[in-house]
Amino acid sequence: MKIVVAGTGYVGLVTGACLAHLGHSVTCVDTNKEKIELMKQGISPIYEPGLDEILKKNYEESRLDFTTDYKSVYKDADVIFIGVGTPEREDGSANLDYVYKASEQIAENVEKDCLVVVKSTVPIGTNDKVEEFLKEHLKNDVQIEVASNPEFLSQGTAVKDTLYSSRIVIGVKSDRARDTLREVYERFNQPIVVTNRRSAEMIKYASNDFLALKISFINEIANFCEIVGADVEDVANGMSYDPRIGDKFLKAGIGYGGSCFPKDTKALHWLANDNGYELKTIKATIEVNENQKYKLFRKAKQRFRSLKGMKVAILGLTFKPGTDDLRDAPSIPNVRRLLDEGAEIVAYDPVGEENFKKLFPTEITYVKTPEETLKDADAAFIFTEWNEIKSLHLNIYKELMNTPIIFDGRNCYKINDVEEKAIEYYSVGRKAILNLKEDAKSEAAMAIV
Ligand code: UGA
Repeated sequence: MKIVVAGTGYVGLVTGACLAHLGHSVTCVDTNKEKIELMKQGISPIYEPGLDEILKKNYEESRLDFTTDYKSVYKDADVIFIGVGTPEREDGSANLDYVYKASEQIAENVEKDCLVVVKSTVPIGTNDKVEEFLKEHLKNDVQIEVASNPEFLSQGTAVKDTLYSSRIVIGVKSDRARDTLREVYERFNQPIVVTNRRSAEMIKYASNDFLALKISFINEIANFCEIVGADVEDVANGMSYDPRIGDKFLKAGIGYGGSCFPKDTKALHWLANDNGYELKTIKATIEVNENQKYKLFRKAKQRFRSLKGMKVAILGLTFKPGTDDLRDAPSIPNVRRLLDEGAEIVAYDPVGEENFKKLFPTEITYVKTPEETLKDADAAFIFTEWNEIKSLHLNIYKELMNTPIIFDGRNCYKINDVEEKAIEYYSVGRKAILNLKEDAKSEAAMAIV
């Protein structure tokens, strides 16, 4: 079976590499020549643990290839996966330009019957439209069918998630398409859910939006915990023993980011509205998340009144650990607001620096270690829970900072440990640890929640 994957972003590249790793013959197509050359050397254009190794191994063993020459590879492909991006438009809807561009190229070049598999996250009904579009644009007399096969990998664990995923969802219109996809995934040894194309498309959005909803839910509970004196970590832990609730995605913080949850919540909400229906829980999920991003910034404003001229240490820039991706990272709007307030920023991230520099080339100072960030700082903000940051001993803050005041957006430290060190500490959904003069304490504790 000859497999071609269109697009070498997260979804396309990881899918192609893993299919080759399990024995298929796969060619990945991209328009970017530099990317193709890099991948041929076994270098992944995205930061993803384990990906370089499987790219190199499978390329060297001739199961995996990369090319810009889509015309020749589409010609005799049996299965073509579309794994291109579906970014957010200004109104929140999904932009399908890349999906249709790839479809056009496929339709113009296929010379034998083939199955086109949409892996990109697309609005419900898109697979039907893509099939119509392909049939309209076919140049040769061949049979073409479209199947939906959404992706559930997470950045940072993408290879593992693909090779050992919780389920493979396939949305098909015919038994033939179902059997072809069963054959593709035979060696994955994972549960396969077979349904129609619209349900498969919906499974993807509903899964992501439900996880985002869980995060916004726990963040709201966290905010309320602060008001009534409960501790959200204990609350989430207590809830998690109920197997109907579970212990995943109940980590309170400064909100979700990344290339999926923000985009997919907005896209589903937009699509529902467009169909005359209001998805109220998703609307609330989005609103809570927007508000949550600035939680620590607001606490800092209340604490200091003015941030002008303060030296602020930023620990962590990426939207989560294990990736260099900054898309919708809460660090970005926070850095903007801190700069607007006149703060002087020194930032550290183990892998996100280069990408952050593209957004803030000169406005902030970048350093190579967390210690350098903290040196003489007046306040520290933790935006990402990298191990390099979580493992930083609390004594370091005391030793290096001008005034050890931490705003921890990922609840990296235990409240008891901070209390022992008498460090001023604000986190999410837990009591603030104040280190102010006695007379200021009660007023501040009341004010900063
Ligand atoms: C997400 C989904 O988890 C994947 O299943 C899905 O395939 C992927 O989107 C996609 O659609 O491609 P990803 O965006 O890589 O994966 O990242 P997550 O690990 O889900 O984290 C997203 C955001 O939620 C991060 O900013 C993280 O910090 C935040 N988060 C996560 C929390 O704030 N609390 C939690 O308990 C969990």
